[in-house]
Amino acid sequence: MTSLKLKTNITSLNGEITIPGDKSISHRSVMFGSIAHGETKVSNFLPGEDCLSTISCFRKLGVTIEESDGQLRIIGKGFEGLTEPNEVLDVGNSGTTIRLLMGILAGRPFFSSLVGDESIGKRPMTRVTNPLSEMGAKIDGRKNGSFTPISIRGGELKPVNYQLPVASAQVKSALILAGLQAEGQSVIIEPEETRDHTERMIIKFGGEVHKDNQKIIVKGGQKLTATTIHVPGDISSAAFFLVAGAIIPESRVVLKNVGLNPTRTGIIEVMKKMGADLEIVQDKESSFEPIGDLIIKTSSLKGTVIEGDLIPKLIDEIPIIALLATQAEGTTIIKDAEELKVKETNRIDTVVQELKKLGARIEATEDGMIIHGKSKLSGGTVSSHGDHRIGMMLAIASLLCDEKTELENPDAISVSYPNFFEHLNSLI
Ligand code: S3P
Repeated sequence: MTSLKLKTNITSLNGEITIPGDKSISHRSVMFGSIAHGETKVSNFLPGEDCLSTISCFRKLGVTIEESDGQLRIIGKGFEGLTEPNEVLDVGNSGTTIRLLMGILAGRPFFSSLVGDESIGKRPMTRVTNPLSEMGAKIDGRKNGSFTPISIRGGELKPVNYQLPVASAQVKSALILAGLQAEGQSVIIEPEETRDHTERMIIKFGGEVHKDNQKIIVKGGQKLTATTIHVPGDISSAAFFLVAGAIIPESRVVLKNVGLNPTRTGIIEVMKKMGADLEIVQDKESSFEPIGDLIIKTSSLKGTVIEGDLIPKLIDEIPIIALLATQAEGTTIIKDAEELKVKETNRIDTVVQELKKLGARIEATEDGMIIHGKSKLSGGTVSSHGDHRIGMMLAIASLLCDEKTELENPDAISVSYPNFFEHLNSLI
C-alpha cells in the first residue's frame, strides 16, 4: 500500500485557488448530454476518477464522448440512441454513476450488467432497485438484488408515485431519469430537500419538471435538446480549504468559482454559525447554477449542533466539519446523519477512528458524532480507508499536527480532486 508523508506544523495559509468542477454536476452533464438530442459541450468538467467512470459507461452504451482538458463534446441521440453494451459497465467507486445509470437503463429495452469496486459492493442498492422494479424494470443482483454485481433488463415503464424512505439525491435522480421514460406523470416526494442538480439539468436541456417543496413532478416522453454547460466549482472540494483557512493561524484564502446552489451550502451556514470569518462574493450572472467566490480568514470558532434538514445540504462535508469542530471552543453535536454509514466508507467510524489517532476528542453516536474542542493534534499514521474525503480531511488535519504524520492510501483522493495536493501546496 502506498503512503504519503503529510505536511505538519503549518503556521499560515495564503493565496487563491480556482476550485475544480463539481462532481455531481459533471456526472449529470455526461448523462444528460448522452440522453439529449444533438451536440452538448461541457466546460470545467471534473476529470476525477468517478466522473471518468461515468464517461466510460456511456461510451460502452454507444455514445460518442470526446474529452480533453476539462472540455467535453457529447453526441446525444436521445434515450433511444443508447445501445446494448457488449461489456460489463464498471462504475469504479462511484455511487452517483451506478444509481443514476440504473434509472436510465430501467427504461432501455436491453440487458446490462453493472459492477464496481469493493466499496460499491457494500453500498445499498435496493433503495433504487425496488422502486425501479415497481416501475417495470427487471433487476437482479447479489443478495436478492441488494448489491453489485447488478443486472438490468429495461423496457416500458409505468410512472411512479413514490415517497423516498431516505433523503437521497441519487435515489430521487434515478427515479426522475426513469420517470422521463415512463408513460405518464411521476410524482416523487423526498423527506427533506436534497441537491437539485438533476431538476436544474432538465430545465437546461429544454425539458420540464415541477418542484413544490419536497414534491417533484415529471412527465414521461419528453425530448431533451443538447446545450452548453459550464460546470461550477465543487463546494464539497472547496470545503477542505474553507476549513483549512479557518483553523490555521494567520491565514487568508480566496476560493474562486465555487458552486453556491442553496441545496449544497450547508457548510457555509454551519461555519457562519460557528463564528467563521467567511465572506461570500456571489456572481450575479450565473442562473443555471449559482456561482461565487469565498474568502476565508483564520477564525475563532465555537461548537454547534448540526441536525435535521441541514444534514442533506452538507452530507459530504461532515468529515471536514468534524475536523473543524476539533478546533472550536466547546462541544459540537452532529445528529440525524445515519446516511454517513453507507457512503464510500462508514464515515462515522472512519472519521472518529482516524481523528482519534491524531489526538482529537471525538465519539461516535448511533446517528452522528460528538466532538469536544479545542484539541491539540499530535500526529501519527492515518488511513484514508480508500475514501477520498477521509484522505483530504486527514491531509488538512496534519497541517495542525506537531509530530510526523503519514497518510496511507492517499491515491483515493483522485476520485474527486486529482490536483488537491498541488492546490494545498500552493497555499503553504
Ligand atoms: C450525490 C448525492 C449524495 C452525495 C453524493 C453525490 C449526487 O448521495 O453524498 O456524494 O450526486 O446525487 P446520496 O444521494 O446517497 O445522499
